[in-house]
Amino acid sequence: MANAPHHDGRAGPPPGAPSQLGTGGRRRLLTGLRPTGRFHLGNFIGTLEKDLELQDDPRFECFFLIADYHALTTYYESSREIGGNIREALLDFLSVGIDPEKSTIYLQSLIPEVAELFLLFTMLVSAPRAQRIPTLKEQVRDLKMESASLGLLNYPVLQAADILMVRGEVVPVGKDQLSHIELTREIARRFNALYGPVFPESEGLVGRIPTLPGTDGGPKMSKSVGNVIYLADDAETVRKRVMAMFTDPTRLRATDPGHVKGNPVFVYHDAFNRDAAEVKELKARYVKGTVGDVEVKRKLVAALNGFLDPIRDRRAAYERQPGLLDDILAEGSRRAREEARETLRLARDAMGLDYFGAARATVEAVGGRA
Ligand code: TRP
Repeated sequence: MANAPHHDGRAGPPPGAPSQLGTGGRRRLLTGLRPTGRFHLGNFIGTLEKDLELQDDPRFECFFLIADYHALTTYYESSREIGGNIREALLDFLSVGIDPEKSTIYLQSLIPEVAELFLLFTMLVSAPRAQRIPTLKEQVRDLKMESASLGLLNYPVLQAADILMVRGEVVPVGKDQLSHIELTREIARRFNALYGPVFPESEGLVGRIPTLPGTDGGPKMSKSVGNVIYLADDAETVRKRVMAMFTDPTRLRATDPGHVKGNPVFVYHDAFNRDAAEVKELKARYVKGTVGDVEVKRKLVAALNGFLDPIRDRRAAYERQPGLLDDILAEGSRRAREEARETLRLARDAMGLDYFGAARATVEAVGGRA
């Protein structure tokens, strides 16, 4: 039984290993965002909104990942910009209200165990399976690439390593990411069946608005398309972006009856306007043709700026404390790394890769890991 784990001949984590649940039986939540520039309203609706809700729910323990290696899969040519973008991502997390006292915010590349776990996982995924992931084709098309690099092909496998590294059970995501979560579940099942139960089957959580359309009415906000409103945009920029938004293309005059469904201006009202009565009234009048686009948009500008003001204030406060940002990322990454080392140990043990323990300890001490 070459593959048998050493401890008791049973496949699986050694007795006394921590349970798959987070500290105190809490469910682990992981959100990852790529540091490719500032976050926008689409990122907020896709994940951050849910995160903020669950961060305050005592049943959850939350991890926030800045996925810089994932940024590299498409931005390898501008790798030098990633450092600055990590800072922006951190500011964005903090400015929406992710609280480092309650949650763990960390940087992917500070956790080398993620790359190791990723490597182990690549054995469990066939190349055609990875090629069938729908986001791959979209990326290749949107970025006008000739073909995907191996790094890009492996993108969802690396994401699975992120998720399973913290043994994440709940992953708030935009709808387009569900195929990655499905692959993560497959990897966990495969691993557990082959080697013993180490990983949970993670579950994707899609927010109340599955995808926020772009300001151009396109299916989603995307930095490369340029149809976005950033969380850090000032009030005047927001006003301009909203006033230039696409609305109902079939409506030529303000007195024509308009369509609310699929109209991005109303999707944004639903997402960000906290005055539900106002939204209801505007919709009713819009359908009857008794309110013009300009008024609907002005009210959206007010609602959005009301929503963004506290975010802007928090951002400004953190921007004044660069040392604090470093400390937050260092402390969160230290915490995440502890978790990662434990998970990798469990995985290696389950696989029977726990050989040459003494040599490993010596080498790790040299590498400064101990
Ligand atoms: N693929 C995610 C996105 O594009 C980013 C990401 C990387 C992620 N690692 C993750 C999301 C782990 C959730 C969990 O938004």
